[in-house]
Amino acid sequence: MKAAVINEFGGPEKLQIVEVPNPVLSDKDVKIKMKASSINPVDWKIRKGFHKYTLGSNFPIILGFDAAGEVVDTGKDVKKFKKGDLVYGRLDKKFGKAYAEYAVGAESVFALKPEKLSFEEAAAIPLAAQTALQALRDKGKIQKGHKVLINGAASGVGHFAVQLVQLFKADCYAVSSFRHKKLIDELKPDVFIDYTKENFKNRSEKFDIIFDVAGTETFLTCKHLLARGGIYITSLPKPKLIYHKLVSLFTAGKKVKTLLMKPRGYELDQINQWISENKFRAHIDKVFPLEKIADAHTYSQEGHAEGKIIIKIG
Ligand SMILES: NC(=O)c1ccc[n+]([C@@H]2O[C@H](COP(=O)([O-])OP(=O)(O)OC[C@H]3O[C@@H](n4cnc5c(N)ncnc54)[C@H](OP(=O)(O)O)[C@@H]3O)[C@@H](O)[C@H]2O)c1
Repeated sequence: MKAAVINEFGGPEKLQIVEVPNPVLSDKDVKIKMKASSINPVDWKIRKGFHKYTLGSNFPIILGFDAAGEVVDTGKDVKKFKKGDLVYGRLDKKFGKAYAEYAVGAESVFALKPEKLSFEEAAAIPLAAQTALQALRDKGKIQKGHKVLINGAASGVGHFAVQLVQLFKADCYAVSSFRHKKLIDELKPDVFIDYTKENFKNRSEKFDIIFDVAGTETFLTCKHLLARGGIYITSLPKPKLIYHKLVSLFTAGKKVKTLLMKPRGYELDQINQWISENKFRAHIDKVFPLEKIADAHTYSQEGHAEGKIIIKIG
């Protein structure tokens, strides 16, 4: 099959389209013919070698975590899916391996693709939307009436977070630049803060949750904005995190929490429900064919994507 691989860590030019063996299916896995994937910053961070000490470097590496496609084979223990099902999910394999014509993932990471979504729209959702859900619901314990600030509100994770804050009937303060004003207007947060004109850290409100999607701040720079018992959530742990956790012991119950998203198909079932009620959607910035994967990585690394960058396969 055709896949985008890297044979060494480095820049986007290291991504090459080559022929590789088909992925091997284990008993609990579903094999899909890939139709679309998406770019997540972790893909190019792995490509640059940032995770080489934790993930290793057994080249050739196929990157990509988000997958949408058609089931072509199932392991003997798979119960939920059958050949011909159209599914999507965040692959659980090391490095993901979604930038390819065929991919495998545990049955537990997939859900059926809603009919109303294209494969491109479906591939936009798993990693980023589940990150937003797990941050707000599991780490932030979001409640109706909470005041929630999303720093990086137009990003892949951020634009899903803004929608979830509203689904949980909390008040949403969305921080982004004017570049994404049109999308932000469509998402209708309670307050839009253009970070090129205003520093949100000078606001007088107190927040129950600050989700620092962009990772430009820390618990220490935001703690004055937290209400009593408020939670600062980051998906980009900083080297001084342990010190920040110690400081939080002396801040009237204010907390700092980190997140490492987990792939869970049952969460996509919940998201499917919101999609069917027109309460949740993916915003697609650009679509690149697999052959242009290096351009897609370059674009993502520039750091100004609006919603998701999609890879169309086949
Ligand atoms: N730990 C985990 O499990 C996990 C999971 C998912 C993601 N992450 C991490 O979370 C981060 C965000 O991921 P993503 O997919 O949302 O990234 P992304 O879509 O690539 O982020 C791009 C967005 O960041 C915004 N941005 C850049 N600088 C900003 C600033 N100073 N203030 C506010 N917004 C700013 C940009 O808006 P402007 O154009 O307005 O600057 C753009 O919309 C990444 O570092 C990723 O690796 C971690």
